[in-house]
Amino acid sequence: MLRVNLPFEPTGAVLAMGGKPSQFGLTVADVPSALAALAQSRALRLHGIHTHLASGLAAPVALTLAADILDWAMSLPVHVPELTLGGGMAVDYGQPEQLFDWTLFGSGLDELSKLAPDTILRIEPGRAISAYCGYYVTVVNDVKHNFAILNGGTHQFRTPAAKSHSHPFQVVPVAEWPYPWPRPELTNGHVTLAGQLCTPKDILAANVPVRRISAGDLVVFIMAGAYGWNISHQEFLMHRKPSFHYLKT
Ligand SMILES: Cc1ncc(COP(=O)(O)O)c(C=O)c1O
Repeated sequence: MLRVNLPFEPTGAVLAMGGKPSQFGLTVADVPSALAALAQSRALRLHGIHTHLASGLAAPVALTLAADILDWAMSLPVHVPELTLGGGMAVDYGQPEQLFDWTLFGSGLDELSKLAPDTILRIEPGRAISAYCGYYVTVVNDVKHNFAILNGGTHQFRTPAAKSHSHPFQVVPVAEWPYPWPRPELTNGHVTLAGQLCTPKDILAANVPVRRISAGDLVVFIMAGAYGWNISHQEFLMHRKPSFHYLKT
């Protein structure tokens, strides 16, 4: 398949790979010579066109983009057996209950596919599938001022640092406090969740209102199943890896 970096700029995209020169794929201007090279090759044949132009797309925007991509592919002088429209379906970390509208997107794709019955349309969703399947759980080591210092950090879960956001979380209170000194805690305040690394960049959530957070509590980061552990600076300064638990439902 030829990956093509088509010049479409979807509105509201969080990350746009297409539409400007980049390391991803051929420019539109390169496509005729690539097709000519394939036509002459005895070993290679064109299987299709591959695109992945942006991420953070709401369903209506993803559909408009898909229509533009299909339009372009159909204008090529060759038949395109397969067309990959890419991923990039939005995940809203600020509003976790706001899900990508798969029903709208699916029926829209169904309509589009009627315009090109001999072309298989493919999508390659990443985070919109897996983000909701993972949780990152760690312990509060200490609470001071409005900081809760976690046993984990961005070396185990880099999503918030990579996206520069406050990652959604829940505090799970733990009743036991086995130490003879007073339990550090913050009540009815705004907490910043810091990891245990020696860098001020090790922040997982900032200034979030909480009713109570205490040393020894668990913090559960939801929506941790995409670009979390896999993009983390694992074993940073020889800190440990997290353990992994797979739940059967
Ligand atoms: C080629 C390609 N396809 C699909 C995806 C998935 O993107 P997302 O997780 O935004 O759906 C990526 C992510 O980088 C990608 O590079």
